[in-house]
Amino acid sequence: MRGKRFAVLATVIALVSGASTADAIVGGTPARVSDTPWVVAITTSDGQLMCGGALVAPDKVMTAAHCATIKGVLGKNQRPADQLRVVAGRTDLRVKTDGIEAAVADVWRHPDYREVTQGDDVAILTLARPLPYRTIALGEVGDDGVVLGWGRTAENTPPSLTLRKATVPILSDQECMLKEPDFRPGAMLCAGRGDRDACTGDSGGPLVVRGRLAGVVSFGRGCARANEPGVYTRLAHYRSMLGF
Ligand code: ARG
Repeated sequence: MRGKRFAVLATVIALVSGASTADAIVGGTPARVSDTPWVVAITTSDGQLMCGGALVAPDKVMTAAHCATIKGVLGKNQRPADQLRVVAGRTDLRVKTDGIEAAVADVWRHPDYREVTQGDDVAILTLARPLPYRTIALGEVGDDGVVLGWGRTAENTPPSLTLRKATVPILSDQECMLKEPDFRPGAMLCAGRGDRDACTGDSGGPLVVRGRLAGVVSFGRGCARANEPGVYTRLAHYRSMLGF
């Protein structure tokens, strides 16, 4: 009885304070790669989680340009393919026997990419071999989307390392411009609701609208803060140059 009353009280406090008991990506739930086989993790060559991505062809991974960039290096800062690895079919990144790891043979990064806040944060990794997993087609934005990733479940936690997902509302370009000064209408989209967002380690990962890949996790100010929606690369804007 006491326990139940406490649980109700805790829920009320969580709702009022805007906090969420189910953390995630931030504010999400556990997911399994078997339900979304095209979602992949991108790691360093020694297996540390860097980013997410999505298989758009058996040997092509859509991700963010900043995931293929060496941080803090100006000029020629594209990350060499041999520093990247793609992990598919592994819900829990600690279970190294699950799924498949693929080497990256080639990196294409948007030629205009400079830093996340300026946009063009999109890259395609070509894998050394095709993977036997379902791919996802590109699509347009809608009212909401599902973001997936292995990243942090709050601003200052370690990464989840098991796949999580959250449904996030997609805001209008007008709202995004008001909330995010660097927002570039048409080439970016913004989504989130104060208690649901992507976070560090989710970058490059998919935002899925009606079963299609509409966005790539790009940047945010903190994670899941009120009035700070997550910003995504709007893939429809790049469709002709991406060739998908
Ligand atoms: N840039 C971050 C990364 O490298 C993720 C940014 C997404 N943040 C957000 N609040 N939506 O993983």
